[in-house]
Amino acid sequence: MGSRPPTYAIQARSVHDVSQISSDETSGGDFNVLFIGAGNVVFGTTEGPWNHSLRFEKKLGDRLKVVAVVDPDITRAKKAIDAKSNTPAKASYEQTKVFRTVEEFATAIHSKDTPRIILVGVPPAFRGSTLPGHNLEQQVLKHLPGIPMFVEKPVATGPVNRTLVVSQEIGKAGTLCGVGYMLRYLQAVQKMKRIIKEHDLRVMATITRYAAAYESISVDHWWDKSRSCGPIIEQATHVADLSRYFAGEVDLKTIRAQTLDWDEEPGFLSEIPIDESKIKEDNRIPRVTASTWKYQSGAVGSLIHLAVLQGTDYSCEFEVYADGYLFKLVNPYVKPTLYIRRPGNDIEEVYTFADDDPFYTEVSNFVDVIESGDKRKESNIFSTYADACKTYEFTWAIREAGERSRAKRKARALWESELGKSSR
Ligand SMILES: NC(=O)c1ccc[n+]([C@@H]2O[C@H](COP(=O)([O-])OP(=O)(O)OC[C@H]3O[C@@H](n4cnc5c(N)ncnc54)[C@H](O)[C@@H]3O)[C@@H](O)[C@H]2O)c1
Repeated sequence: MGSRPPTYAIQARSVHDVSQISSDETSGGDFNVLFIGAGNVVFGTTEGPWNHSLRFEKKLGDRLKVVAVVDPDITRAKKAIDAKSNTPAKASYEQTKVFRTVEEFATAIHSKDTPRIILVGVPPAFRGSTLPGHNLEQQVLKHLPGIPMFVEKPVATGPVNRTLVVSQEIGKAGTLCGVGYMLRYLQAVQKMKRIIKEHDLRVMATITRYAAAYESISVDHWWDKSRSCGPIIEQATHVADLSRYFAGEVDLKTIRAQTLDWDEEPGFLSEIPIDESKIKEDNRIPRVTASTWKYQSGAVGSLIHLAVLQGTDYSCEFEVYADGYLFKLVNPYVKPTLYIRRPGNDIEEVYTFADDDPFYTEVSNFVDVIESGDKRKESNIFSTYADACKTYEFTWAIREAGERSRAKRKARALWESELGKSSR
């Protein structure tokens, strides 16, 4: 019998530990914030833990002044602000105004209300492009130049080359811009990073399994590739991003992918919560996508995404291998647990991280960077716009590799049936 694995419960003493930057919610003056988008990611939902307004409130306390909410859905924005009047954070929203567009906000505000950070929490179809109506970042750069932006993931839905132009413009303007890949801020992830750095490890492989509970996904556009771009770009983007975070850049030419699709016999799902027949056949999402690739370092990566589970909880595991080491991150969204196996040993150490809140840490780090005014601290923003564009490009390449293999499969099936007919 082997000995029991050692288990360590890491207390989330302070989320500031990750960045080593100290900040104090009681010091400093008002901290003006502009929210763009009054939806779930900004004001919360019962569907998940995301709610950026709460994290800003926790970080800044009474110093938080939400100067405005920009959303074409004025009613929704006003409702979200009104709901804050019954909370301990009500003072932060007493002067909050509502505008339909960034331009309207920029024209109307007084200089004392200039935001110190702009949170862009709108769906990706409205941003990350150079096309009017889809170019929110360009609107911000034009009307509110120089103000740091925190943009949600994925960075876009349109063609990658347009997003790269946006990224260049952000870089040229020198605007600080972080992206909401919050898994990078998990204590477990930072612990893995620390050990890899301390021991100068070479990552040899990454393996990811991401199984979504499809029964609980009732947003109809998630099921429609023409609107949400499919589950790799919209959902597995978080773990694709983690893969790059640990193993570096992917050699995009090496990506291969196989899909199990809706029209194949094992692809039938009995509990889809929307009417999939209303979605064009070519736009329906794969049930399974299995992909492999080489990193530019020579390491190998793999990712399998499954829209297969019912109920509400997802099942997700992410593994990183190096000589003698296995790092296995389990359930990163809900209850991150890290298993570490070290050289010369069969035993897996187990680490749990009580109350770790990566959504808070990403906001906290960003605010601290802005307040410090120190460029050297910018590395505490773990996901930049330019970096997030590479994750976007990577996820598109996986989707396209899957579509190519489906097209080949269909062409072969057609050819075989034609051959069958002609030989009869
Ligand atoms: N990091 C995470 O875990 C996480 C979690 C949830 C959502 N998200 C991301 O956040 C983004 C928003 O998702 P959501 O669930 O909040 O969407 P949502 O549909 O709930 O809300 C989006 C809001 O944006 C508004 N909007 C649309 N166009 C706009 C524009 N041009 N200017 C201002 N407002 C505009 C809409 O009217 C709506 O009120 C998506 O990219 C999503 O992937 C990330």
